[in-house]
Amino acid sequence: MSTLHEGGQKTAQAIAPATGKLGVMVVGLGAVATTFIAGVEAVKRGLAKPIGSLTQMGTIRLGKRTDGTTPLIKDFVPLARLEDMVFTGWDIFEDNVYEAAAHAKVLDKETLAELKPYLEAIKPMPAVFDQFYVKRLNGTHVKTGKNKMELAEQLRADIQAFQKTVDRVVVIWCGSTEIFLEPTAVHASIEAFEAGLLASDAAIAPSQIYAYAALKEGVPFANGAPNLTVDFPAAIELSRQNSAPITGKDFKTGQTFMKTVLAPAFKARMLGVSGWYSTNILGNRDGEVLDDPESFKTKEESKLGVLDFILQPELYPDLYKDIYHKVRINYYPPRGDNKEGWDNIDIFGWLGYPMQIKVDFLCRDSILAAPIALDLMLFLDLAQRTPQLAGLGVQEWLSFYWKSPQTAAGLYPEHDLFIQSMKLKNTLRHIMGADLITHLGLEYYD
Ligand SMILES: NC(=O)c1ccc[n+]([C@@H]2O[C@H](COP(=O)([O-])OP(=O)(O)OC[C@H]3O[C@@H](n4cnc5c(N)ncnc54)[C@H](O)[C@@H]3O)[C@@H](O)[C@H]2O)c1
Repeated sequence: MSTLHEGGQKTAQAIAPATGKLGVMVVGLGAVATTFIAGVEAVKRGLAKPIGSLTQMGTIRLGKRTDGTTPLIKDFVPLARLEDMVFTGWDIFEDNVYEAAAHAKVLDKETLAELKPYLEAIKPMPAVFDQFYVKRLNGTHVKTGKNKMELAEQLRADIQAFQKTVDRVVVIWCGSTEIFLEPTAVHASIEAFEAGLLASDAAIAPSQIYAYAALKEGVPFANGAPNLTVDFPAAIELSRQNSAPITGKDFKTGQTFMKTVLAPAFKARMLGVSGWYSTNILGNRDGEVLDDPESFKTKEESKLGVLDFILQPELYPDLYKDIYHKVRINYYPPRGDNKEGWDNIDIFGWLGYPMQIKVDFLCRDSILAAPIALDLMLFLDLAQRTPQLAGLGVQEWLSFYWKSPQTAAGLYPEHDLFIQSMKLKNTLRHIMGADLITHLGLEYYD
């Protein structure tokens, strides 16, 4: 293990081994969470392959192309094993993971029946919830307290109790999308945030209370939804102070995944884009929640951000200055979790001649999200055991997984999927003391 300094000098820094149990606490045991938990168990039992998971199936090239050294990522860096993952969670409904998975209708009945005893045993703890922040849900399995600080303390007690049963803990928000919130004075520092919890400040949504509880306990936190949850100064400060890594928000699964593949291609070829119309139909509970304009606004902001950052209209005004970008999400119950995402892209080429591209992605939302949740849990746990990464707070190298990657203050996020992939793999090489790969390749011609 080593760190590369300027001048190529290396110093050793040991990554703590992934021994013992990794406890995963999931906030919101809905479609994504149950598909993730059931999926890990199905893979452990050899019933299916972990398709879509970089940590389980991905390889990493080390050294020159002629060296032929391409281990699996999980053999190269010390990740927790699936066999060592233990799950628990919170939800506003009392359904156990088997019942919630059956309700979500993502996985087939046969698979669920086979896993039933295991899934039934995972029962949610009462949640911290307030309908003001998710209008379309009415939770009954909820904690009560005289202010938001008391609720945070109850969550901290849940985390502490779970910590006693495992060796390390990570938390992931797979809960519903909350209403659109922007950082206020209450988010500016840990002191202001704690005062806000005591005063039950309206700018503090439930997801922030979970994040606060996790970070206070020194536990890494991932946010699968587009909510304002850890992307404000108080959370970043807490994350750094307690060496509890955080990273971006809103899993990059379907339409935005395609967008961050196509847009870099247009830019690389200097093709112009005059319009990009994206629409979705989906019929799961997420779709129902996003049917509320206030929750949709949160998602819309997250989905809209990517194109501007990738296309850089300020650098290429002739190509992208006038782009019209529209994103719609329509709740359509017959489709359930099987989302259809359409994109109409109006591009233009040589001398300004127009062309069109149509993308129709008939995807399965939770099937795409589950391996991302798995990778994030394993990589955040790795980050916490890695001296060079743990104290950084924000783990920008995990941008690959997010619609809205989190960065250091003042830095624009990197959205291009292939740059994100290179960044992730180079970070793994870096922490393991391997040479970074620049793709220069002149050495083959010496
Ligand atoms: N599936 C994808 O491709 C994808 C991609 C990006 C983001 N997301 C986001 O991931 C989240 C989960 O998606 P899903 O399809 O599983 O939704 P879902 O509606 O099936 O599950 C969300 C669960 O969270 C619970 N919940 C809501 N508020 C809670 C709280 N305060 N505490 C505890 N539990 C709470 C709900 O009861 C529900 O069981 C959503 O915010 C969604 O926007 C999903």
